[in-house]
Amino acid sequence: MPGPETSQRGLARVLVVGAGAMGSQIAMVFALAGHDVILQDITESGLATARNQLEERMDATVAKGRMTAGTARQALNRLTCTTDLGEAASSADFVIEAATEKLAIKQHIFAELDRLAPPHAILATNSSTLGSSKVAKVTRRPGQVCNVHFFNPALVMKCVEVVRHPETTQATVDTVMELVRTIGKQPVLLSREIPGFVANRLMGVLRDEALSLLDAGIASTEDIDTAAKTALGHPMGPFELMDLVGIDVNCMIAEATYAETGNPTDLPHPMIREMYEAGRLGRKSGKGWYDYETPQDDRIHKTGTTL
Ligand code: CAA
Repeated sequence: MPGPETSQRGLARVLVVGAGAMGSQIAMVFALAGHDVILQDITESGLATARNQLEERMDATVAKGRMTAGTARQALNRLTCTTDLGEAASSADFVIEAATEKLAIKQHIFAELDRLAPPHAILATNSSTLGSSKVAKVTRRPGQVCNVHFFNPALVMKCVEVVRHPETTQATVDTVMELVRTIGKQPVLLSREIPGFVANRLMGVLRDEALSLLDAGIASTEDIDTAAKTALGHPMGPFELMDLVGIDVNCMIAEATYAETGNPTDLPHPMIREMYEAGRLGRKSGKGWYDYETPQDDRIHKTGTTL
């Protein structure tokens, strides 16, 4: 883990907009790398939940002997939470937006950030489906806008996709690539925008095949997940991964991808939509493809199309 001295000169102050699962862990990644971080969200309750989860996560890391209590405390002390976007943006060198995957919301945030953040600040979006050109166009600094896409759980996953849009300057790309390296992540550069970028496109192929095998009654969710883990060496099976990412997030990503491509095969799979509408959102709601409310051995297994 990089220490405070490694935080990239000139990008010391980081603002993360959106305190959900992604935004909160992204904020912690930067704080652990020595940056002063402000985590902004529209609700105090969302910020309190994020702070509690991060504190628990840091406590667990310390308990496992992976980090000293002092390092964890210093990093948490570098992380400030606020609902005030104006105050948060006014001193930011680097902003990463991790709000809901809805274009209108993101454009509103970027217009505000452009107005409130210092002229030198780079504005990035964590979106995996919306190319940054769509938010860059509401700013007066399109050259300083790009996608910087982390993976769930952001504290653990090494990869960060950096995606330039036609107007992103080379200086912005170089600065962001270096920034990603200094926070201990592995940047992957995409030379142009494409919905889903690289990793989600790869994951999508596996997920769609898993859903069609389940739909056809060929194998259960658990057996498909077991095959992915024990035959292919994946850390999680596709159904476990959908539960981790969130069925709602899967649904929103599919809808945003369809809005981009107009390709009906990009729409949420009917089983995913049905689960979303039934509130079976995965780990976050206690039930998804698996049941997280009952002991591990009693998890509900699904076969066929019955939900
Ligand atoms: N948040 C933060 N840290 C977590 C975590 C979480 N939700 N879950 C596990 N961890 C940490 C653990 O604390 C542990 O840390 P230490 O090594 O310091 O002990 C480490 O991860 C390993 O955890 P476990 O031993 O409990 O379990 P595991 O070995 O099965 O790993 C996992 C868990 C890291 C999630 C692993 O299963 C994995 O890599 N799964 C695949 C995740 C993946 O594919 N993510 C990409 C999703 S797609 C996406 O995010 C893009 C998008 O746009 C939707």
